[in-house]
Amino acid sequence: MSITIQRDSDNIVTLLLDMPGRSMNVLNEALTAPFVAAIADIEADPSIAGVIITSGKADFVAGADIEKLFQITEAQPAFDLVQEFKGFLRRLEQCGRPVVAALNGTALGGGLELALACHHRIAINNPKAKFGLPEVKLGLLPGGGGTQRLPRLIGIQNALPLMLEGKELRAEEALQQGIIQELANDREDLLAKAKAWCLAHPKAAQPWDDKKFRWPGGDSKTPANAQLWSIAPSMASAKTHGNYPAVINILSCVFEGGIVDFDTGCEIESRYFVNCALSPVAKNMIGTLWFQLNAINKGKSRPEGFAPSRVNKVGILGAGMMGAGIAYASAKAGIGVVLLDSSIDAAENGKNYSAKLLDKALKRGQQTVAGKESLLALIKPTVDFDDLGGCDLIIEAVFEDRQVKADVTRKAEVVIGADAVFASNTSTLPISGLAQASSRPANFIGLHFFSPVDKMPLVEIIIGEHTSPQTLARGFDYVQQIKKTPIVVNDSRGFYTSRVFGTYVMEGLKLLMEGQHPRAIEMAGLQAGMPVGPLALHDEISLSLSWHILQQTRKDFAAAGKPFAGHPADAGLEKMAKELDRNGKKAGKGFYDYPENAPKHLWPGLQQAFPLASQQLPQKDMIERMMFVQANEAAKCYEEKVMLSVADANIGSIFGWGFAPFQGGALQYINAYGVANFVKRANQLAEQFDGYFAPAKILVQMAEQGKKFE
Ligand code: NAI
Repeated sequence: MSITIQRDSDNIVTLLLDMPGRSMNVLNEALTAPFVAAIADIEADPSIAGVIITSGKADFVAGADIEKLFQITEAQPAFDLVQEFKGFLRRLEQCGRPVVAALNGTALGGGLELALACHHRIAINNPKAKFGLPEVKLGLLPGGGGTQRLPRLIGIQNALPLMLEGKELRAEEALQQGIIQELANDREDLLAKAKAWCLAHPKAAQPWDDKKFRWPGGDSKTPANAQLWSIAPSMASAKTHGNYPAVINILSCVFEGGIVDFDTGCEIESRYFVNCALSPVAKNMIGTLWFQLNAINKGKSRPEGFAPSRVNKVGILGAGMMGAGIAYASAKAGIGVVLLDSSIDAAENGKNYSAKLLDKALKRGQQTVAGKESLLALIKPTVDFDDLGGCDLIIEAVFEDRQVKADVTRKAEVVIGADAVFASNTSTLPISGLAQASSRPANFIGLHFFSPVDKMPLVEIIIGEHTSPQTLARGFDYVQQIKKTPIVVNDSRGFYTSRVFGTYVMEGLKLLMEGQHPRAIEMAGLQAGMPVGPLALHDEISLSLSWHILQQTRKDFAAAGKPFAGHPADAGLEKMAKELDRNGKKAGKGFYDYPENAPKHLWPGLQQAFPLASQQLPQKDMIERMMFVQANEAAKCYEEKVMLSVADANIGSIFGWGFAPFQGGALQYINAYGVANFVKRANQLAEQFDGYFAPAKILVQMAEQGKKFE
C-alpha cells in the first residue's frame, strides 16, 4: 500500500506516504486513491483529533504525475485531472480536524501544494531538503491551488517571485518566508511537534476559509499591489521576450485570484493551467528537461556491466580559472583534491578561489564556518607531482597547448597508479591526439567542463579513439558524484557543444557583415531565447581565442592535406581580431567597449567597419537564422555520431551553451518545426546564401521517411 495509517492513544492519525517500488512519492492515482479513502474515513470518525501527513521516504513528495500530464492533448481531460487533484486537497483542508504536514524532506511542486493545503507545516532542518513551486521550469504553473494558497499565505509580492522564477528554498529560507511555520531537528522531533500542534489547535481551519480573511499585504486591488500589476507583466515579458506563456499565466492566476473568493480562484487557476499544459512550450520543456534529463541521470549513456565507482582523491593539473573551479566542485562533493600548478602562488590562488566562493555562501547563510573549513581542508595546493600518488583520477586543465599538456601527462603518469583515469579538460584539442602522450590511452578521456564551473551544470565527456568503456563508466560516475549532468560524445573537432555553439556566434558576425544593425542582431539573439546576444557572447569568449582556433584548424587541415571550407564569417573575425585589434572583453575592446566605470556599450566604430545595408531584415528572420544554424549543426553532429543520443544533444544544448530552453533543445527545435518544414526552409535559405544553411543529409532522409528525432 502507498499509505500506512497509524492511530495513537490520543486519536492522532498519521498518514505515512510510502509508495512501493519508488524512490520518491509522486502524486499519481496510486497515492491519491488511498489518500481520498483515508480522508473519507477521517471525516466519518468524530473521535479522530488530528491528522499528521508525513513520508516514509527520504523526501516528502516530489510532485505531480508528469507522465500522465504529458500524454494529455485535449483541454477537457486536462481540466478534469487538475480539478480532481484540487478537489482532493480542498477536502483535506476542510475535513474538520487539524492537519499538519510533517515535512521530513523535499516538497516541490504538487508536494508543496499538498503541504500548503495542510493547516500547519513543520520541516526537518535538513540542508538538502528543498521547498518550492518550480513548475514554471517545465513551462507549467502550479495547478494544485499553489497560485491561490501561496499568495494568501505569504502575500502577493512575496509569492510571485517564487512562482515566476521557480525558486527552491532551503527549510530555513522557507521558514523566513512564512511557507513553513516550525523547524524540527529530526524525525522524532518532527512527529512530536506535529502532534503537539494538532492537540493545541483542535479547531484549525485555513485562514482563507474564514469570512474575515484579509490578504497579507492586501489583495489585487490594494494600491501597492495595483501598482505592481501595472509593471509586472511588462517586466516579465521584457525578461522572457514572451517565450514562456506560463509566466504571464501565473501573473493572471494571482491577479484574478486576488479579486475573487478562494474556490473561484482555484477554478481560474485550472483554466490557465490547461493553457500552459497543452502549449508546445510545456511539451518541449517536459519532453527534454524532465524525460530526457531523467534518462541521462539514470545512466542512459553509461556503458553497462561496470560496478559503480567513486573517486576518493582527484589530482587537478593547472589551478587557473578552470582548475580552480573543478577543485571547488570536487571538494564540495567530499573528494580530496591535489591542486597542482607550476608555482605555489598559482596553486594557492586556485585554492583561494574556493575560499572566496565559500565566503559568499557564508554571507548568504548557505554555508557554515565549520563547513567552509572542512571543505578547504580537502584541497591541497602543490607544485610537486609526487603529491598525485594515490589519485583515482587526474584532470588536466593547463594551458591549451599540446606540448604543455603532453608534458604534464607524462609527469603525472609516472606517479599515479596503473588504473587511474587521466582526463583532459581541453576545449578544442581532439582527445585522441592528446592521448598519444599517454602510456595508457585506454584510461584517457575528455572531461569538458564549462565556465564558471560552480554554476554550470554540464560536463561533456569525450570518448577518444582508445578510451575503454570502463574508463567512460568511471568518468560518468565522477561527473554524477560532483552532481553535474554528463553527456557523452565521440571525439571530434570542437566536440559537440563548442562546435554547435560556434555557429550561433558566427551567425551574429555574418549578419553584421551583411550590414544588419548590431543592436538588432543582439536583440534577435535575446528574443530567440538565448541568454546573451551573439556579439556580446563572442566578446566574452574572446575573439582572439576564436581567431587562434581558426588558424590552428587551418594548419591542422593543411598538415593532413585536407581542404578546409571555413565559415563565411571568417573574414569578419580576421578583421576584428587582427586588423582592428578588437579582441573582446578581456582585452577591454571587442564588439563592445568596456569603460571602467560604466556599463558596456556597442563600439561606435562598428558602423564604419561593417556599414549598414540599405535593407534591414525583420527580427523574425534573424531569429530564425540563429536557431537554424544551431539546429542544423546539431543534426550534422548527430548524423556523424558525435553525440550518442537525442537526449544528450538536447540537454547538452540547453545546459552547455544556453540554447533556448522553451524550444526543448537543438534537435527538439527541428521536431517542433516539423522535419519536412525545416528541410524546405533550410533549402530556401541555402539558395539565398550560397549553400550555407543546406540541411544535414540525415534531415533530408528523415523528412522523406516521415521520421523525427526520438
Ligand atoms: P588558465 O590560463 O586560467 O589556467 C591555466 C593554468 O595552468 C595556469 O594557472 C597555469 O599556471 C597552469 N599551468 C600552465 N602550464 C603548467 C604546467 N606545465 N604545470 C602546471 N601548471 C601549469 O586557463 P583556463 O581557462 O583555466 O583553461 C585551462 C584549460 O581548460 C584549457 O585547456 C582550456 O582550453 C580549457 N577550458 C577552458 C574553458 C574556459 O572557459 N576558460 C572552458 C572549458 C575548457
